[in-house]
Amino acid sequence: MKVMLVIGARPQIIKSAPIIHKASKDVEIDLQIVHTGQHYDFEMSRIFFSELELPDPVANLGVGSGTHAWQTGKMMIGLEKTIKDLKPDIVLVPGDANSTLAGALAAVKLHVAVAHVEAGARSYDMGMPEEVNRRLTDHCSTMLFATTENCLNNLVKEGIPSGQIHLTGDTMYDALLQHQMKFQRTQVLERLGLRAGEYAVLTAHRPENVDTPETLKNIVEAMIQLSESTIVFPVHPRTIERLRVSDLLKSLKKAEHIRLVDPIGYHEMLHLVEKAKMVFTDSGGLQKEAFLLHTPCITLREKTEWVETVDLEANVLVGNSVEMVVRKAREYLATENLKTKLKKLPNPFGDGNASTRIVNALKDMIPVDI
Ligand code: UD1
Repeated sequence: MKVMLVIGARPQIIKSAPIIHKASKDVEIDLQIVHTGQHYDFEMSRIFFSELELPDPVANLGVGSGTHAWQTGKMMIGLEKTIKDLKPDIVLVPGDANSTLAGALAAVKLHVAVAHVEAGARSYDMGMPEEVNRRLTDHCSTMLFATTENCLNNLVKEGIPSGQIHLTGDTMYDALLQHQMKFQRTQVLERLGLRAGEYAVLTAHRPENVDTPETLKNIVEAMIQLSESTIVFPVHPRTIERLRVSDLLKSLKKAEHIRLVDPIGYHEMLHLVEKAKMVFTDSGGLQKEAFLLHTPCITLREKTEWVETVDLEANVLVGNSVEMVVRKAREYLATENLKTKLKKLPNPFGDGNASTRIVNALKDMIPVDI
């Protein structure tokens, strides 16, 4: 089975790593990795290949940054040619980035089957580009690898035949388990001068938060008000630019309890999240990783695709109102033994064997004409 895996954005590399390792060891699968070049900075791409010990892609399309249509279109043009050259039986696309949608569209239009890793996640908010990418990708996929029971139900509700859906669990959980020994040994706390349980982690990069100056200002204001807690903020390149343009970077730098750092790699980030008192984020992946590491999460959004974490009360949606963010954070800060409580929750993200199920399903696939 010739499988072409399309990746390009940071979280896609993490989600694919366990599949790449499993497939590379399997004689029945010939896996070729194609990088779109959506992310290109060392801290956004290369570091993950190195930490996750991944082979180099067979091609890098070097697309880079741009508007959604430009970026997705340019990727599609490059991927169309790559698919024609590599002639895969199936194109595998993980997650919900523009690289995901570009891979799915380029393949389906060439009548090549598409398999989607992380199918069925829904925030039901089409204002988020990721929701558009997820829905369209699912509806041009032949094989849909649903992360959770809820994801599977969403797909069934949308009329996808159940024979095409495989409940696999989350490959991000597989990756986290496989790297536990490594991430727990990093020196990130020493490097940043932090003490376990005595700081919070913040990440914010979603366009709905950082591209609107008013919204970004609210997040910054909330963080400044929370002066009773050290806050570590690894800043995404999109966000640093917006903070600069809107003149908010200066106020953040002035706040002594806030530590601005460059984007950090996989191992250090997991270690940082595991030892944090709480996480503030608008990332999808980090909501899940906080849950899996038993760290309470405050999500800076009105809606999430990972509703499981909210239903289990390990995560709370606060949008971007200063008052809501500060109130919830103070509530978490005042609660004892939160981590112990979170450790007792059931885990909806599988058993750490999602990648095995995915690779087995790919091998069992009978090539179809679509
Ligand atoms: C993308 C994904 C998002 C994911 C995120 C992880 C889409 C629609 N969104 O958002 O779901 O959570 O990746 O990071 O695909 N930039 C750099 N260096 C890089 C990459 C980006 O400086 O290596 C800057 C550029 O200014 C660029 C901006 O970041 O314009 C945004 O990058 P982009 O590829 O549009 O998507 P992300 O915001 O990273």
